[in-house]
Amino acid sequence: MLAYHVYRSGSGRRDSSKEVEADESDAEPRRITVKEERPALPWMSTAASVVLLVTMLGILVTTLIIAAMASGNKHVTSGKHGSCLDGSPPAYHLSQGAMRSIDKWLVHLSGGGWCTLDQSEDTKFVTDHCALRATTPYGTSRLAPNLVDMEESSAYFNRDAKANPLFHDWNYVWIWYCDGSSYSSNLKDKVVYTKEDGQPVDLYFKGHGLLVDIFEDLLENQGMNGATDVVISGCSAGGLGVLLNVDWLGKLLPEKTFVTALPDSGFFLEWFAPAANTKYDSYAKTMKWIYESTNASSAVNQECVRDCKPET
Ligand SMILES: *[C@@H]1O[C@H](CO)[C@@H](O)[C@H](O)[C@H]1NC(C)=O
Repeated sequence: MLAYHVYRSGSGRRDSSKEVEADESDAEPRRITVKEERPALPWMSTAASVVLLVTMLGILVTTLIIAAMASGNKHVTSGKHGSCLDGSPPAYHLSQGAMRSIDKWLVHLSGGGWCTLDQSEDTKFVTDHCALRATTPYGTSRLAPNLVDMEESSAYFNRDAKANPLFHDWNYVWIWYCDGSSYSSNLKDKVVYTKEDGQPVDLYFKGHGLLVDIFEDLLENQGMNGATDVVISGCSAGGLGVLLNVDWLGKLLPEKTFVTALPDSGFFLEWFAPAANTKYDSYAKTMKWIYESTNASSAVNQECVRDCKPET
């Protein structure tokens, strides 16, 4: 038995099917001779295929290279000078640039608010409690993933030459923010803090040392000592970190290296949070706590410190 369906174009009807009884002779397989159509110039088609294949391979390889250049591998440093709040060693993600820009570096200090020890432990606002923060990705490098998408980490990390003509093929370094102090705290010893439930917890305020360890690693192990250009950028708490540390960085890097800062927000001078139920409801109060309680005064620009008139 054979069957066929008829669809009439434009009729919108799909039900005009018909079943047809077939006689026995129709059940025999029919031989159909198809004349093979050979292209007139076979070599041309081969050449076209090769070109197509090479082009596709090229696109694939380029896509893979761009994808590889857009992801950053985690590097954990010695932790000799600095650490995250929980004592874990400083970490960063690195994505190597193109050969032609091998001596150009864009470093980004990630942000994420600040913390103090002198407030209610359950406050989760721009300023939270350091004991709480130490258990989150903002307080430990243990929670840093092995691989990150650099382009998601910072808008300045973009491997598209059209969108990012200056930095698209530079080396990218994304620094894991985990000290709660805009990379400025500098307490030699740990603080043993007793939580509201009576449990003691060790906390470390070594945010500036975190940068010391990371740049030491970049200089000694990743080739930054050959840098012609280093741009240090950051957003929010990272932006403030740039302002607080760029003079130190300029002195640390080799003389031949051009160092410049690209802070992207972070100095929220008159920022208040009227809804926050905490005495650290303003930027100024939070910064004051960090500056006075974590020995940040010794890690920032000493000329600024000398020039600063005490409040009256
Ligand atoms: C503050 O930092 C300075 C400079 O690094 C250091 O000599 C001093 O011991 C630090 N003070 C405390 C209390 O950690």
